Amino acid sequence: MRAVVYDAYGPPEVLRLEEVAAPIPKEDEVLIKVHATTVNRSDVHTREANRSSGPVISVLSRLISGVRRPRQRILGSEFAGEVVTVGAAVKEFAVGDRVFGTSGIRFGAHAEYMCMREARRIAHIPAGMSFEQVAPACDGALNALMCLTQADLREGRRILIYGASGAIGTAGVQLARYFGADVTAVCGTKNLELVRSLGADRVIDYTQEDFTKNGQTYHVIFDAVGKLSFKRCRDSLEPGGFYLPTDGAANLILTLMPSRKGAKRVVFMIPPRQTKQDVLFLKGLMETGKYRPVIDRCYPLEEVIEATRYVETQQKTGNVVLTVIGGSAR
Ligand SMILES: NC(=O)c1ccc[n+]([C@@H]2O[C@H](COP(=O)([O-])OP(=O)(O)OC[C@H]3O[C@@H](n4cnc5c(N)ncnc54)[C@H](OP(=O)(O)O)[C@@H]3O)[C@@H](O)[C@H]2O)c1
Repeated sequence: MRAVVYDAYGPPEVLRLEEVAAPIPKEDEVLIKVHATTVNRSDVHTREANRSSGPVISVLSRLISGVRRPRQRILGSEFAGEVVTVGAAVKEFAVGDRVFGTSGIRFGAHAEYMCMREARRIAHIPAGMSFEQVAPACDGALNALMCLTQADLREGRRILIYGASGAIGTAGVQLARYFGADVTAVCGTKNLELVRSLGADRVIDYTQEDFTKNGQTYHVIFDAVGKLSFKRCRDSLEPGGFYLPTDGAANLILTLMPSRKGAKRVVFMIPPRQTKQDVLFLKGLMETGKYRPVIDRCYPLEEVIEATRYVETQQKTGNVVLTVIGGSAR
């Protein structure tokens, strides 16, 4: 099969298309013919061994993905495709089923075929959705869900979502709205209308206004794009308010620090946990029109380097999809 592989950490140019053997499903696995996948920030961070996040995170990253070189040569976590073979013990899926999900840090989706255990984060595609539409359903939304479920979101609670136009942000706005919170979203000028259409009660253009200086306060501030700090947001939080980060070693330390009851604090799920139940929850939201993955651009698999360069601009709106066409498993 054709797959995008890499053998050394580095810039997007380490990626190349190669013929490799297709994986063989185990008893409890399905073999999926991948029709669409994505390039997301996990792919980008893993490919460069998180060098841009500093030495501590980079070492942790290499401990997970391979110290000297990547153990898994094929990146890509989100997938949408068709089941072509099922292992003997598989009960939930049959040949021909249309499925989507995420392999997380096991990756393997930038290829014509991949295997998934049926108990992992895989579900049937909601009726009426194309492979391209559903491929980016999981990564941003599961990251957002993991953060938001820590924050006791409900009716009457005010949340500010910073970086509301990214993969995590666009999902975060829709999920916060679903949980009944009053949503203020912060993004750049070009994305104001889109973010409003996702259900934000109000939007702030960060090029025109600094939300930390307008005197408004929130029960929750969610930094969906890793550009804020707890220190900067503290005065904009209500007493007992939560600051939800998406990355950063400093935030990890702040999360682990003991805090007074009722104090403003940094909250992050440790260890991070994303489950099949979560994917089924997202499926339900898509079926009832409460969540839709936002797509910026679609590239063919062959243009993975261009797609990756675009993701690395940190200016994408929502998600970048890769389409995978043709091929047969051998
Ligand atoms: N998605 C993942 O796989 C993943 C995994 C682990 C951790 N993370 C972390 O999660 C965070 C977000 O990831 P993501 O994939 O959702 O990001 P993303 O999609 O790459 O975010 C891009 C968006 O961020 C906005 N943006 C850029 N600079 C900004 C700024 N200074 N202020 C406000 N908005 C800004 C851009 O909008 P404008 O054009 O309007 O500026 C763009 O729409 C990052 O901290 C990342 O490290 C992501």
